[in-house]
Amino acid sequence: MGFGIVPCDVSGAAREIKGDAMAQRPYVIDQMISAKAIAARIEALAREIEAEFRNTDKLVVVGLLRGSFVFIADLVRELDLPIEVDFLEASSYGDSTESSREVRILKDLRGAIEGRDVLVVEDIVDTGHTMHHVSTLLAARGPSRLKTIALLDKPARREVTFQADWTGFEIPDAFVVGYGIDYAQRNRNLPFIGKVRFT
Ligand code: IMP
Ligand code: MG
Repeated sequence: MGFGIVPCDVSGAAREIKGDAMAQRPYVIDQMISAKAIAARIEALAREIEAEFRNTDKLVVVGLLRGSFVFIADLVRELDLPIEVDFLEASSYGDSTESSREVRILKDLRGAIEGRDVLVVEDIVDTGHTMHHVSTLLAARGPSRLKTIALLDKPARREVTFQADWTGFEIPDAFVVGYGIDYAQRNRNLPFIGKVRFT
């Protein structure tokens, strides 16, 4: 497949990059993590998750919409465990007049998690506000075990203390797309993780 540099033109696209002055101008995407490297990493992570939950009667795998939809699809197909899948949508936004971030739950879980084993699946941990808020919220519902996994982690961007139990890849402070992750809702369907570079 001829991926490597993918030219994009986002003129007119809604600006959704939080707290960021990225302009609406053409950009290219430089591959950062290949589809093959992601697949290999997910296999290794699945073995660790199976070991942690080997005695579970059922693991509720919770995907954070929308960015985790590709990751959760690949991850659950690697897990040799009895699982259920549920989704939660959170939206975080910055208030320019305050330093704290507020996280809103836009769509809650369909099922109860009290007494259940739960694995929360996120695409990227950036400032940490989303996962800190979501894991605190879900922990208050009394799950038997609550673990978290993020495909990507940008530790340099952290504003609140949060560390996922499993991380796919630590990456530098760059804006990335692909493998479910978007820029203004674009590029979620790229099979690899790429870095946005404005031209
Ligand atoms: P946090 O609350 O700052 O940790 O935000 C995490 C969320 O911000 C992720 O689930 C993504 O939706 C979004 N995000 C953070 N970094 C990027 C990026 O590089 N590309 C696209 N979305 C990102
Ligand atoms: Mg997200």
